[in-house]
Amino acid sequence: MSVTAVVGLQWGDEAKGKVVDLLADRHDIVVRFQGGANAGHTVTVDGRRYKMSLIPSGVLHPGVVGLIGNGVVVDPVALFQEMEQCREAGVDVERQVRISDRAHLILPYHKAEESVLEREAGESAIGTTLRGIGPCYQDKVGRRFSVRVGDLLRPRWLRQRLERAVGYKNRVLAALGAGEQYDVDSLFEQCLQWGNTLRPLIVDSVDYLHTALADGKRILFEGAQGTLLDVDHGTYPYVTSSNSSMSGVASGSGLPARSVSHCIGVVKAYTTRVGSGPFPTELKDEVGDRIREAGNEYGTVTGRPRRCGWFDAVAARYSARVCGVDSIAVMLLDVLTGFEKVAICVSYIHQGKELKTMPSHPEVLEECEPVYELLPGWSEDITGVRAIDDLPEAARNYLGRIERLVGVPLSIVSVGPERSQTIWVEQALVGGASGRVLT
Ligand code: IMP
Repeated sequence: MSVTAVVGLQWGDEAKGKVVDLLADRHDIVVRFQGGANAGHTVTVDGRRYKMSLIPSGVLHPGVVGLIGNGVVVDPVALFQEMEQCREAGVDVERQVRISDRAHLILPYHKAEESVLEREAGESAIGTTLRGIGPCYQDKVGRRFSVRVGDLLRPRWLRQRLERAVGYKNRVLAALGAGEQYDVDSLFEQCLQWGNTLRPLIVDSVDYLHTALADGKRILFEGAQGTLLDVDHGTYPYVTSSNSSMSGVASGSGLPARSVSHCIGVVKAYTTRVGSGPFPTELKDEVGDRIREAGNEYGTVTGRPRRCGWFDAVAARYSARVCGVDSIAVMLLDVLTGFEKVAICVSYIHQGKELKTMPSHPEVLEECEPVYELLPGWSEDITGVRAIDDLPEAARNYLGRIERLVGVPLSIVSVGPERSQTIWVEQALVGGASGRVLT
């Protein structure tokens, strides 16, 4: 297994950070390929919590390189804060962090633009993280006003790009009635300073990764958000602006998709969502509140309470197909301890008809009623369990049902935030040979 990808199969926050952390020391390079500081990965090591958002959390392992790929949108302010946090955690930033020269920069006007647009949208706001992600990707695709990391090292080019961008953004912001206006000279100076500091970390990431692969280095792709937030395959328009499914790996790194030898799809044992958009299994009652409190379901980046609901197997199966996942990791199983019954959504009812697949239109999904299968719950504390056979029978049944409905063998079950609170599944419950994937 030389190239592994870890992607979320729900609406983000599946605890991918823990899976990446578990796998990082079997790899040499961990790569972020999309998104930006909208992501929040929490990793707990020896009781200390680290919140990473831009730099791949794998760098917390000595010697592992974290690469920010070309598909990422980089907020330099967030990046510098995180580099500082990494240094405090003992990471050798100069040797362990690399940034693609092709990655795009989030500049202050992106956040200003997003704030106005979200405010103006009122009830139809996307509920973004307000980190400037959408406006930055818009500029990337629009090509005229974008600034890339590599531009920071080329003053003449940078100045031209900024003059064009700042002039346009100031006109847009004024037209939108935003108070902010930006000054080319000071932004230019700021960018040059960023460039000087980041210079030793900036690389041609495509060449870097291909060379590493040819040298036999093992590469781990760390997805941010989840497949249901993917701009093409998610619940559009209530999505993020990047390909947060497996589709983003190739475009966001320059390694071909076929180089990935194993893709792990990560799910929570239930479902959460932050921001607006359809969510068929959402529980707006005390059960949802109970899951939120037990799972500490509050946003890592924004602190917003997450919407909580039962496991949606229709959605997870859809995502597993889009990503072509080889195995699944089921996280936060311990959060469901103590429920007399647990429910899994196995299909939807839409206007009297049963749907077994995920509808593509958000209005249809909004109108869907979940069909639940009820399973017995378990009350035993499972946080100390380390082998699948030691789980209570009801918990094993629950996992087996998820595995069968998603159609992919289990490889990891998490029963607590610590690295050690993990069950490595040697043999999938439903007997797929590829269940022995992570030995
Ligand atoms: P944006 O990525 O800030 O543009 O936000 C778009 C949508 O994606 C919003 O619903 C956000 O709440 C959601 N989102 C973005 N990043 C994350 C994440 O890391 N976890 C969960 N939801 C996210």
